[in-house]
Amino acid sequence: MQYRTVIRCAELAAIAGVLWLTACDRPHAPAPETSRAPGPTRTYTIGMSQCNLGEPWRVQMNADIRAAAARHPELRVIFKDAQNDTLRQRAHVEEFINARVDLLIISPKEAAPLTEPVARAMEAGIPVIVLDRAVLGDRYTCFIGADNVKIGRAAGEWIKRRLGGKGRVVELKGLMTSIPGQDRHRGFREAIAGTDIEVVFEADMKWLEPEARKEMESALARFPRIDLVYAHNDPGAHGAYLAARAAGREKEMLFVGIDALPHEGVAYVRQGILDATFEYPTGGAEAIETALRILRGETVPKQIVLGSRVYDRSNVDRGGDPLP
Ligand code: FRU
Repeated sequence: MQYRTVIRCAELAAIAGVLWLTACDRPHAPAPETSRAPGPTRTYTIGMSQCNLGEPWRVQMNADIRAAAARHPELRVIFKDAQNDTLRQRAHVEEFINARVDLLIISPKEAAPLTEPVARAMEAGIPVIVLDRAVLGDRYTCFIGADNVKIGRAAGEWIKRRLGGKGRVVELKGLMTSIPGQDRHRGFREAIAGTDIEVVFEADMKWLEPEARKEMESALARFPRIDLVYAHNDPGAHGAYLAARAAGREKEMLFVGIDALPHEGVAYVRQGILDATFEYPTGGAEAIETALRILRGETVPKQIVLGSRVYDRSNVDRGGDPLP
């Protein structure tokens, strides 16, 4: 949009035969290129608003962004970590708007409270890539993430097969004010509907391992038989495993998680701690590639859906299998 505006300005300037481009009040617009006197390469500043760096998955997301950006010397990425605090993340977005970054990438903690700040960035002419956790509505440039309903459904199908359609399950949910938590819940429930799988205990562990462990202690105290724990992420599944092990009951049940980082969930499957994990790609590299396309004035899709894989004991040594 801004790029096109500048092109239009350049054309007008050529027609008028005067150099009034400086009057074009577009501080973010790329410098006009002429074949005669190429100016210095335009550099871009990207603001990256990360909701939290408490989980290895988010550390990996930032590392993926940093590695992808390092391949493009024209990019500078400024990272801010909201430390799992929605108000702080809202303030970070405002700071990026005031600093007039060229593009914003945000992985929001919660959908509703970050929707308005993202829309304000758009109104200020800053394109926004929303990564992994969605906001509400459509006032952003591009959303990048895996299909969490599909992942939840695949987890439900795996659980159904493994339990033979019957059993007592604990569901430890991700933060239910975030879209991945809602979607992983919905997909799972759809898959087990009409079976004899009973969810005997469910709790919001807010994506956090210590919360999951605490909730699992309550589940263990209340239910003498639990066949499986479905946690919406691997830290949650690991927290549940630790609680079960402390109660001497970890062998009585299976543990299923989501994320499948090589050094976290996949390693847990290899170690026999988790029975299955589903990959949730960070999208960091895709965010940088998409940012570049936006900054160059290209049109990008509104949604970029990333694929996923399942890892369990049967396939972990050969690198898992893609979800159909
Ligand atoms: C990390 C995390 C991941 C999860 C993702 C969902 O904060 O909880 O474990 O897959 O966020 O947005």
